[in-house]
Amino acid sequence: MMRQGGSRLAGSTAAVLGARLFSHSATAGATARGLANGKSVLAGIMNGNATSGSGKGWIAGVRNFSAVAQQQQQQVVENVKPSVTVAENAKEKKEIVSYWGVPSGKVVKKDGTEWRWTCFRPWEAYQADLSIDLNKHHVPATFMDKLAYWTVKSLRWPTDLFFQRRYGCRAMMLETVAAVPGMVGGLLLHCKSLRRFEHSGGWIKALLEEAENERMHLMTFMEVSNPRWYERALVFTVQGIFFNAYFLGYMISPKFAHRVVGYLEEEAIHSYTEFLKELDKGTIENVPAPAIAIDYWQLPQNSTLRDVVMVVRADEAHHRDVNHFASDIHYQGRELRESPAPLGYH
Ligand SMILES: [Fe+2]
Ligand SMILES: [Fe+2]
Repeated sequence: MMRQGGSRLAGSTAAVLGARLFSHSATAGATARGLANGKSVLAGIMNGNATSGSGKGWIAGVRNFSAVAQQQQQQVVENVKPSVTVAENAKEKKEIVSYWGVPSGKVVKKDGTEWRWTCFRPWEAYQADLSIDLNKHHVPATFMDKLAYWTVKSLRWPTDLFFQRRYGCRAMMLETVAAVPGMVGGLLLHCKSLRRFEHSGGWIKALLEEAENERMHLMTFMEVSNPRWYERALVFTVQGIFFNAYFLGYMISPKFAHRVVGYLEEEAIHSYTEFLKELDKGTIENVPAPAIAIDYWQLPQNSTLRDVVMVVRADEAHHRDVNHFASDIHYQGRELRESPAPLGYH
């Protein structure tokens, strides 16, 4: 009898494991297919000569990829999963929610359809302020300003050399760096607030908002570009160096650190302007905007990559202002907390 029970248990375990393994392989397959297709378009975008047919098709695929792939995977999994597993999962989910009282997080859009993004919620979406002055420049006056300015300018040279006119790839790679300073600054201000038993003036949140906004730029460009293995390795290396350098720099002189970021943002505006020129010339195909961008920036459904670059560039201009402003506060011998942070400044 025990043997019978044992074999029954083994059988049901195998069935559940089988279903789980199957669902994993289905996911892996779908992902691999998506990546394989993405690679070809990336090559086109990076070479600046994407052909209209395939690129468009792929991006359209990308826009719907998450939803469609998930739907397909669900259907496949539902077909092979024993009903007991579905019931168990539902029970498990319900139990966790009811025990801890944590809401499921299921959100619907205004039109009643389910909100598909877990990385941001509808109340975090916004419309970018495109009227911001893109040409504003902080003229370096002091030695420290000049050092910050020339540090950034000297970084431009290897960047131009490496990426040349592959602006899709360039944007994606640079966003992996751009999202670091806000997080480091926010972290250090957070610790300072704890150490000194004092308010931050909202600057912790403002800097973390900036980091999150930059990360959303990355999530967006990931949809139209796929990094090669050596580019991923480069991100690892650069992040290791840049995170530590910025951490140290911010501890020594937040005035200098914010000025550097202010100039980095000025460079970002320039890069995105070049990106737009390539799109207008047609050397980079103006494919439909990724779905994530449409939801995050509340763009019209028929938006294109050009519209996305426009809003991202406006974001960079806002980051420029915030960081130069933060540096100016320090220049006036004040602390950031003495001036209310520009929260929600997009
Ligand atoms: Fe950015
Ligand atoms: Fe930025």
